[in-house]
Amino acid sequence: MQYKYYLKCLKGMLSDKRLRHSLKVSNTAVRLAELYGADCEKAALAGLLHDCARDLPNDELLTLARHNRVPVDSIDEARPVLLHASVGALLAKRQFSVQDEAVLQAIALHTLGDETMTLLDKIVFVADKVEPDRSFPGVGELREIARRNLDRALLCCFDAAIMLSVRNGDLIHPRAVRARNGIRLKMG
Ligand SMILES: [Fe+2]
Ligand SMILES: [Fe+2]
Repeated sequence: MQYKYYLKCLKGMLSDKRLRHSLKVSNTAVRLAELYGADCEKAALAGLLHDCARDLPNDELLTLARHNRVPVDSIDEARPVLLHASVGALLAKRQFSVQDEAVLQAIALHTLGDETMTLLDKIVFVADKVEPDRSFPGVGELREIARRNLDRALLCCFDAAIMLSVRNGDLIHPRAVRARNGIRLKMG
């Protein structure tokens, strides 16, 4: 992997804080990949690039999505930040020349998930929430769960995000609900 090249590109796209987060997600994703038998290189790359579009302004996220046939619904229009995952996958392909569809999908799904998620998708999703700089209440327990049961950790991530939106009176994207139910159904 051209890790140094990617890092150099990311430095021009992300704040220092976001870059540090991206590096930590990459490291955490590698550790989870080792634990669960996923491809460590893919986990490292998807983790490093997952937020490459996160610092783009809302209008740019919407324009990039619309011009590249990324589906945009009414909730994305109201909360364009949600598009940073799918636009991030687009940039990873275009600007970073990532061809690996599994890596691109893990980047695209790291915010809202999907009804069916691969092991790599789950690893990147959970690594984003449990990397060492995260400090929300319950993160220690979530880290423990992530080490023992990845599906349960994923369910906890969805539940926490959905409950936070409800508490804040905010919108909930139906894809997050479908993803949450997908994992819950799988658990029986
Ligand atoms: Fe993100
Ligand atoms: Fe992130």
